[in-house]
Amino acid sequence: MTLSTVATVPTAGSRPSARVLILKDVDAAGWHFAISSASRKGAELDRNPTVALTFYWPALGRQVRVEGIAQADPPQVTADDFLTRSEDARAMVLTGRQSEPYSDPAEISEALDKARLELAQSPTLVPLEWASYAVRADTVEFWQADPTRRHRRLRYERDATGWSPTLLWP
Ligand SMILES: Cc1cc2nc3c(=O)[nH]c(=O)nc-3n(C[C@H](O)[C@H](O)[C@H](O)COP(=O)(O)O)c2cc1C
Repeated sequence: MTLSTVATVPTAGSRPSARVLILKDVDAAGWHFAISSASRKGAELDRNPTVALTFYWPALGRQVRVEGIAQADPPQVTADDFLTRSEDARAMVLTGRQSEPYSDPAEISEALDKARLELAQSPTLVPLEWASYAVRADTVEFWQADPTRRHRRLRYERDATGWSPTLLWP
């Protein structure tokens, strides 16, 4: 899925940024994803938890758009997410440098060697910057392609009593 966040840039107002992430789970709390809070998106979410998620299934001609607030998961959910990742994935997270620029690939190799050693010594280690979130949606739109361009769009909006559906022009 694509996660879109909004940064507030002092000189340029608001600026959106988007990237693909793994949808880890969907349950009553919302749509779950996990990231390093040291990354660009982590910093943006910290200041503004309002997000959009976008899914697209080309073979089915379907799109789902979600808008809402990303809320931090309880620590146990975050820990479970991290500890079920592969050793390679955990080692890369432990380097703690995501989205920083680098000039020499050896910097990454050295940091990974150090991280692997750390993991071998503490297999249940969960880095402080690892963060799992659930997006509590307030708007969800379902889009179904139609070969004649009469696409079907159905938007649900959350209100005090539940969800209200609205049909939208294609
Ligand atoms: C298929 C795919 C899955 C990805 N899954 C994740 C993920 O679950 N978590 C994550 O932090 N980054 C994931 N990434 C990497 C992000 O797209 C992105 O490059 C990275 O998180 C840095 O984003 P930022 O600089 O906007 O913070 C994935 C990328 C792809 C293409």
